[in-house]
Amino acid sequence: MARILITSALPYINGVKHLGNLVGSMLPADLFARYMRARGHEVLFLCATDEHGTPAELAAAKAGLPVADYCAWMHGVQKRLGDGFGLSFDHFGRSSSPQNHRLTQHFAGRLAEAGLIEERSERQVYSPTDGRFLPDRYVEGTCPNCGYAHARGDQCENCTKQLDPTDLIDPRSAISGATDLEMRETKHLYLRQSAMQERLDAWLDGQTGWPVLTTSIARKWLHDGDGLRDRGITRDLDWGIPVRKGDADWPGMEGKVFYVWFDAPIEYIACGAEWAEAQGLDADAWQRWWRTDQGAGDVRYVQFMGKDNVPFHTLSFPATLMGSGEPWKLVDYIKSFNYLTYDGGQFSTSQGRGVFMDDALEILPADAWRWWLLSHAPETGDSEFTWEGFQTAVNKDLADVLGNFVSRVTKFCRTRFGEAVPGGGEWGPQEDALIAELQARLAAYAAHMDAIEVRKSAAELRAIWVAGNEYLQAAAPWAAFKEDPDRAAAIIRLSLNLIRLYAVLSAPFIPHTADALCAALQTDDRAWPDDVKTALTALPPGHGFSVPGNLFDKITDAQRIEWHDRFAGGRG
Ligand code: 2FM
Ligand code: ZN
Repeated sequence: MARILITSALPYINGVKHLGNLVGSMLPADLFARYMRARGHEVLFLCATDEHGTPAELAAAKAGLPVADYCAWMHGVQKRLGDGFGLSFDHFGRSSSPQNHRLTQHFAGRLAEAGLIEERSERQVYSPTDGRFLPDRYVEGTCPNCGYAHARGDQCENCTKQLDPTDLIDPRSAISGATDLEMRETKHLYLRQSAMQERLDAWLDGQTGWPVLTTSIARKWLHDGDGLRDRGITRDLDWGIPVRKGDADWPGMEGKVFYVWFDAPIEYIACGAEWAEAQGLDADAWQRWWRTDQGAGDVRYVQFMGKDNVPFHTLSFPATLMGSGEPWKLVDYIKSFNYLTYDGGQFSTSQGRGVFMDDALEILPADAWRWWLLSHAPETGDSEFTWEGFQTAVNKDLADVLGNFVSRVTKFCRTRFGEAVPGGGEWGPQEDALIAELQARLAAYAAHMDAIEVRKSAAELRAIWVAGNEYLQAAAPWAAFKEDPDRAAAIIRLSLNLIRLYAVLSAPFIPHTADALCAALQTDDRAWPDDVKTALTALPPGHGFSVPGNLFDKITDAQRIEWHDRFAGGRG
């Protein structure tokens, strides 16, 4: 049994997340967490809301709430929606927690002692129209690297290059559109990432088998131009973690806060402390996951994120951890994703474009979304959500293949044998062939899941469902029943057991359906199968069951058209 630490990129607090956010980190992280638990490993799965920075301030102002109240409220909303989607976080924390305040100030103090923080007086973008300094991401302009017209001052989301606002061509305020921007003097702290270049390079060299998407982005910025740039880690804002050096004041930095991208990844660790406190455990409980001097050397740490997050997790956050000189656990594997697009364009929070988590749960059960999103995860390139594609996948994979199998088997058994696993009859060559196929597919499925190949895993799981359908069609218990009821009983006995096996194997993808199947089969036996043949005897003759209600309603053409039109306008 291994110990697996799993984090998902922290969803930003400024509103309900869209399906692109969900599939870019939280959902695949949940798939992996559920799978690893099912395999008997000890898992700590952490996520939190990312609550600081100007977007939170602006969203709060728009909602007419003080920013702390807004964040508390929206954290609750995001928590409920995560629960609705079955996201099985061990803790869903908050980057504004006291634990993160303490830890962020602690890291800043350690980095300062290590000589890795520099104070710089600088001229920063000030917007007289807006009456404030503009944080990097609220300066917009043209990317000097790729020419994208809507690059933000912190990063170009088109080419992922980390930027400073002064790099932008034709800069303007993203808050008001004002172009009368001026530069004003202010003092800030910089993390000397450049001094860490060699250590980061060596560390990245030691990581083998990472997805190309992850390493290519990391290497690109590590070796870009004159190398890794120092990053400002403080801001002139009210809302955030006050700049302190550990427990002590930081002279000259009064009234300033840490940059949201400095404190957000530290929340991965602080979230562990929040989790332990919420469980009534002491500090050892979280430190054994996070400190290599407390046992975390045995932990495998896997992070999930969208590609825009990769530079922060391959360069900035490791620089913070290594630079502290303390034995913090570094990530072992970074699984990153491309973007999900919506019907020919981008999902957009600011424009309300696409389907958001609350809308999604209002129109269909979570498992329909989970299945489509995971089976179309944007792994090797961007993938597109269309209502047609969604309708096809739900209707074919879930209703026609899985749902139909369950319904035919349970209803046939109820009619012919009653609501218990029938005894009698023998398995023959058809069963041997099915078991051999399932055994091979199970191995392939587990290998893809171990490797976090999400789409390949989904395809293999679907093939496992299809194999059952084809077997049932060929074995035809309804025909056998007329001549040889015992033979029909043997087929149905296998098929009922196969439903249980499907529940176990499918649970990481469609946990609510798996629960419904286990409830109908009156079993809590969810042991991961080693040997398929043995697993198909778990429910013995005489074991009672009930016919589950319809597992998946098909999406009608009328619904598809209605939803397409309803979401075409954006969400106001
Ligand atoms: O990209 C985002 O949505 C950020 N809120 C992710 C933060 S992840 C981290 F660093 F914790
Ligand atoms: Zn660019």
